[in-house]
Amino acid sequence: MKVLVVGSGGREHAIAWKLAQSPKVEKVFCAPGNGGTAEVAQNVPIPADDFAALVQFVKEEGIDLTVVGPEAPLLDGIVDFFRQRGLAIFGPTAMAAKIEGSKSFAKCLMKRYGVPTANYESFIDYQSALAYVREQGAPIVIKADGLAAGKGVVVARTLQEAEQALFQIMQAGEFGLAGNRVVVEEYMEGEELTLLSFVDGETVKPMITVQDHKAVFDGDKGPNTGGMGTYAPVPHVSNELVNQIVETIVKPMAKGMKQEGIPFTGVLYTGLMLTASGPKVVEFNARFGDPEAQVVLPLLETDLVDVLLASVQGELAHVDVKWKRESAVCVVMASAGYPGHYEKGALISGLEHMPGKTVIFHAGTKRTDAGLVTNGGRVLGVTGLGEQLSEARETAYAAVRQICFEGAHYRTDIGEKALRRQR
Ligand code: AMP
Ligand code: GLY
Repeated sequence: MKVLVVGSGGREHAIAWKLAQSPKVEKVFCAPGNGGTAEVAQNVPIPADDFAALVQFVKEEGIDLTVVGPEAPLLDGIVDFFRQRGLAIFGPTAMAAKIEGSKSFAKCLMKRYGVPTANYESFIDYQSALAYVREQGAPIVIKADGLAAGKGVVVARTLQEAEQALFQIMQAGEFGLAGNRVVVEEYMEGEELTLLSFVDGETVKPMITVQDHKAVFDGDKGPNTGGMGTYAPVPHVSNELVNQIVETIVKPMAKGMKQEGIPFTGVLYTGLMLTASGPKVVEFNARFGDPEAQVVLPLLETDLVDVLLASVQGELAHVDVKWKRESAVCVVMASAGYPGHYEKGALISGLEHMPGKTVIFHAGTKRTDAGLVTNGGRVLGVTGLGEQLSEARETAYAAVRQICFEGAHYRTDIGEKALRRQR
């Protein structure tokens, strides 16, 4: 069969890379793709938001399945658009994707279906929000309601920080329309965990656990990014805890959304805080995480195309989703300045002869006549695999040290929290 992957980041490279390994897949296309997807797929120069052109391409090429990576086209209704034309596509409808697109919508559903999460209030009026924040005190969390590329959240340690964040979001318009409404949330203390699940509208199949590193600098310092690195599975999270998360959070959400008439099909991303009073939801996303996909997909034993097709067809209950007994660590190499302003076009070298079991996923790269150059904030996701987490980590960092581009920066402590616990 022929498959089209929509998107152009590290996540999409990981999806295309995995699909290309399937004996059932004869050809993978990626629209628009990047310098890395070009190695495993044929890049097609159609932007992810041009649904009409994508549909035309799918019909002309006779593509059997389209897989959507990023949230923006999902929220804009790419799945609805394809389905209305009878085309198979993996991902949630625009209505279901609102679980990611609107934090107040997600909070509302959680409340209705008894899913544990931080207490909150949402506001469209600045003065009311300010009064509420002053009444609650710090620490407190301020979130722009809409999409803000993972950057619209401020964990305020002091009242002054909280007030400043409210001003930036609601008055100065730092995140544009996404900040017309804010969610003010109780601060949750604990370790963060991501659990991705395949969902077919009803059946939930959890993946292995992942930990992301959102802050830009070592020791979780500095501003939040889209994610600077991941590892999987998380060794200190027991199967019992995963079951508890699935039974008290993921399944009730899937069931609730079905009851609401907006069944969720695709990957449901559950961001959790492991608090003293049990796991609680930080956020839901409507897609694979990035860079979570870069560690989870290499560890998937079952053919990805079987899982995706079963999800689309509502047949997930009949698929046994198996995982390799290995570990993976992904270290993101970013452009100087990221998550703030950064330049593009730096020449990337050292990608040949990678050590051990390494996979290099391209996030923001482009092939030019001069060679491979940087083309985004996050440039590469360097994934190391190993029997143990420690081995996977050593492999990933050995590879990172060989790769060069001007201004490259990365965290040196990906996976360290877990290793410290093991020691
Ligand atoms: P979000 O975009 O909602 O995932 O938030 C981004 C990051 O902010 C999360 O990964 C957490 O590190 C932090 N965060 C969000 N909500 C809370 C909360 N209620 N308590 C503590 N930290 C939070
Ligand atoms: N790495 C966080 C996300 O994909 O939302």
